[in-house]
Amino acid sequence: VSPENQQILSASEWVAKLYHHLLRFTKDGKKGYQYLKDRGITDETIDAFQLGFAPEAKDFTAAFLDKKGFHQQTLIKSGLLSQHEDNSVSDRFRGRVIFPIRNHLGKPIAFGGRTLAGQEPKYLNSPESELFQKGRILYNFDLAKKHIRKQNQAVLFEGYMDVISAYQADVKNGVATLGTSLTETQARLLRRYVDTVIICYDADDAGNDATYKAAGILQRAGCDVKIANLRENMDPDSFIMEFGGEAFQDEVIKLSLTFTSFYMRYLKKDFNLTLEGDRIQYIERVLEHLATIDSSVEREYYLKELSSEYDISMDSLTQQIQSHRQKMG
Ligand code: UTP
Ligand code: MN
Ligand code: MN
Ligand code: MN
Ligand code: MN
Repeated sequence: VSPENQQILSASEWVAKLYHHLLRFTKDGKKGYQYLKDRGITDETIDAFQLGFAPEAKDFTAAFLDKKGFHQQTLIKSGLLSQHEDNSVSDRFRGRVIFPIRNHLGKPIAFGGRTLAGQEPKYLNSPESELFQKGRILYNFDLAKKHIRKQNQAVLFEGYMDVISAYQADVKNGVATLGTSLTETQARLLRRYVDTVIICYDADDAGNDATYKAAGILQRAGCDVKIANLRENMDPDSFIMEFGGEAFQDEVIKLSLTFTSFYMRYLKKDFNLTLEGDRIQYIERVLEHLATIDSSVEREYYLKELSSEYDISMDSLTQQIQSHRQKMG
C-alpha cells in the first residue's frame, strides 16, 4: 500500500469511529440513532456494523481530520471531503446515517450515507479510488466469510439495510453488491468459498432483471444458484420488518426457488399469456431453456408443470425438447 493510501486507510478508520461515536452517544447523532431504531435496528447490530452519523455542519469532519494532521489533498482523494467548482472544500457526508464499507480485512475503505431528509441520492457513496472499487468488493464479506464457509452457502443482497436486517434475523452469511450489478470478480470471489449462492434482490422489476443477470454470471463462475422466495414488490429488509426474522428464514431463504422456477415466472413479463400466439412463444422459450438442463429428472419435473399449466401433452413437449437437444449437439 502506498504511503498515501496508508493515510486514507488511517483517516477512514478515524472517521468510522467518529461517526459511530456520534450516533451512539451524542446529541448530534441522535437523529441518526432514532432513525435506525425506527427501522428496528438494535444497539448490538449498530455496533457490529459500526453504523454512524455524519452531522450537518459543512466542515465538521474536515476540522476533525485537520487536527489529526491529515493533508487536505489526501482527504479529497479519499472522498471524505469534496472539492467544489469554486475550489471550496467541505465534508462529503452531511446529515446522513453512515454505513462503513470494509475491505476483506475488516478495515473501512469507503462509506455509504443514507439521507434522512429525502434528499437525492438516497445513498451517497464514496467515489471509487485505488482502495475502493465497487466491482471488486462485497459489502460485509469480512464478517460473513466464516458463516459462508460453514454453511457452504452465501446470500446475495442489493443493499446495506438488507444485509443488516438479515443479520438481525440470524442470516449472517449475507453480502451485498452496492447498487451496481454483480461482476465476474465478485462471482469468482464467492465461488472460492461456496457451492451455492442464494440471490435475494428486491422483488421489483429492476431487482428481477438484476437477478436474471447475476444468476448467469454466478453460474458461469461455477456456482449453483437459487433465488429467494420473496413476495412481489418487497425487499428483504421490508419483509423482515413486516413479517419478522423467522418468516424470513422459513419462507424466503429455506423455500428458495431453483433458477428454472424463477426463470419460468420471470419470462412471463415478455408475453401476454391471454393471447394464444404469445402462449406458444412463451412455451417455446421455456423449452429452449429446459433443453439446456442435463438431468432428465429435472427436465421432466418442469415439463410436467408446463404440460398441466398449458394443457399440452407430455409427448409433444418431450419431442420438442429432444429436437432442441439434438440441435445443441
Ligand atoms: P435500493 O434503492 O433498493 O435501497 O438500493 P432501498 O431498499 O430503497 O433503501 P432503503 O431501504 O429505503 O434504505 C439498494 C442499494 O443500492 C445502493 C445502496 O447500496 C443501496 O443499499 N444505492 C441505492 C446507492 O448506492 N445509491 C442510491 O441512491 C440508491
Ligand atoms: Mn429503492
Ligand atoms: Mn432496489
Ligand atoms: Mn431495496
Ligand atoms: Mn429497503
